[in-house]
Amino acid sequence: MAPTVVINPARAPAPVPARWRQEVERLLITEHQLARRVRALSRQIERDFAGREMVVISLLSGTVMFLADLIRHLSLPLRLDFIGVSSYGAGTESGDLVFTKELRLDVRGRDVLLVDDILDTGKTLSRVLPKLRALKPRRIRVCVLLDKPSRRVQDIEADYVGFEIPDFFVVGYGLDFAERYRNLPFVGVLYPRVYKEACKRVYRMALRDGDPAVA
Ligand code: IMP
Ligand code: MG
Repeated sequence: MAPTVVINPARAPAPVPARWRQEVERLLITEHQLARRVRALSRQIERDFAGREMVVISLLSGTVMFLADLIRHLSLPLRLDFIGVSSYGAGTESGDLVFTKELRLDVRGRDVLLVDDILDTGKTLSRVLPKLRALKPRRIRVCVLLDKPSRRVQDIEADYVGFEIPDFFVVGYGLDFAERYRNLPFVGVLYPRVYKEACKRVYRMALRDGDPAVA
């Protein structure tokens, strides 16, 4: 496997496109870097899974762009399914994990590639992997676009990692803050005031809806 690309935030960053300059403080990974790296991951996965019919299982919703780009370069027979899991409310810290969609395909005896957007604390994968193993696939390999090893609380590693990043909360290329910014074609870091304004907005909405927690 080609070594993980480590993103050094001290390096001169690419300029943020004008449209996003109000909200995005720093561009961490460019569209071009993403495209090149995802292609390299596809090539590696294609070699490792050659001759097998694979089942790609993707965690919703942060993987949308990564998954689409990754599998379009996989020239292998494959089937695709999704597990819905949500770990965040409107904030940036892991909350309780809820399953919002269960797997439908039978994976018994199959070679599974589990795809997630980012490996952070590891809590999500530490809940999802035992559930998958219980379905008796032949093997499971884990592929994540981003890895933040400094945040890990569970002993989990991915087999394929696009980029290792420092402890920034990032958005774009599928990753969200409060369900927004998934559509950015790059990975970037928001200005702190964006989070603060979002908190105020949620607070105002809760007040308006008469949520007793804020009354
Ligand atoms: P973990 O359970 O802490 O490993 O976190 C995994 C999930 O948290 C990811 O699938 C993301 O949905 C979300 N997450 C963690 N870090 C970030 C981030 O920097 N930006 C956006 N989402 C994140
Ligand atoms: Mg996610």
